[in-house]
Amino acid sequence: MTAQSTGREDAPGGAVAVELRDGYLDLAHETGRSAFHYMWLRDNCGCHECRISQSGERALFTADIPDHIAPTSATVAETDARGPLLSLAWNDGHETRYSIRWLVAHDYSAGTRAQSGHLPILWDATLAAVPTFEHADVVGTVEGQLAYLDAIRDYGVAVVSGTPSVEREVERFAETVGHVRETAFERVHNVRHDPLGYNVAHTPLELKPHTDLPSYSWPPSIQLLHFLVNEATGGESTVTDGWAVVEDLRREDPAAFEVLARVPVSFQLFSQDEDTYATAPIIQLDPDGRVRTFRYSNQLAQPLDAAFDDVEAFYHAYRKLGRAIDSDRYKVVFKTSSGDLLTVHSHRVMHGRLAFDPASGGRHLQDVYMEYDDLMARRRVLLGHHIPEPADGGDA
Ligand SMILES: [Fe+2]
Repeated sequence: MTAQSTGREDAPGGAVAVELRDGYLDLAHETGRSAFHYMWLRDNCGCHECRISQSGERALFTADIPDHIAPTSATVAETDARGPLLSLAWNDGHETRYSIRWLVAHDYSAGTRAQSGHLPILWDATLAAVPTFEHADVVGTVEGQLAYLDAIRDYGVAVVSGTPSVEREVERFAETVGHVRETAFERVHNVRHDPLGYNVAHTPLELKPHTDLPSYSWPPSIQLLHFLVNEATGGESTVTDGWAVVEDLRREDPAAFEVLARVPVSFQLFSQDEDTYATAPIIQLDPDGRVRTFRYSNQLAQPLDAAFDDVEAFYHAYRKLGRAIDSDRYKVVFKTSSGDLLTVHSHRVMHGRLAFDPASGGRHLQDVYMEYDDLMARRRVLLGHHIPEPADGGDA
């Protein structure tokens, strides 16, 4: 026991009650109960000594907090428009004030954490239509841009129609909503029939669903594909929700899912002058076990270099995944028009195309890469969600 318990501290009206426990504080509030460790509370002191006022960055060096930090007293007072404030006097001589509203918003109890975080909308071939927006709305209005960014967040795919069919327009679009991610290859790639091209995309062959550049440890997470001209016969686009495919696999064949999340695969893409090479499992999970990164490019996969005992299980899982990806269960097939700009969240959604006849008409697209984080940052800024509320609720 490191804290001297002060018993219950009831706020006026009785809506808030605090109890000091061994190592943590128990808070009863209007919407339930929350608990916070003393180390966490001390670390998140928002006073002008512990935070840099102009930037909100932490000035307090967390490692300097005494091991046995604990409050010596706790009081709750209803002060002003910030609502009830909790004041803690610490055994290191410091004092901290927290707005109860801020504490409740930062509750990290298991129940609250399970409900937090945005869940994507997984989809398959029954998706009625790829979310589609007008170029003028996305680049010219806040509402239009937010709707587009919401679609990227929820579905991982969107089409922007009416994009001017001008060279490098895709780069201008990228810079309007975020930043271009440069790679070893051109900043703006041209995809058209090219007998000397370095990639199967430069042939008129079918392109199976894939994600680009799994040959980077961190592949580009957004890809923009701008169809300047699309008049050839065939060449329909495909999009496939890789997260939906692997979530179904996790349910239907958990052992296959486990193998794909564990066994590393190497990928390479090179040209005369450049080389990219990386090794990672096809599925990478976040700490809560949700799929975070999905990479799939059968054409770029290198000879498997796995433990002997994993090879059979890997091929079972990998071939099952491939058959699912190539089936009509998941693939959405649609013909883009000249001026369409397709965006995919490329750690999630695969793109591909059917074969086309290069003699039947022009087909030219330009693509650039971006990072999903930058698009979500733009979304938060447009919504005004990017400046955190101080722990003490700010100046009243
Ligand atoms: Fe591609």
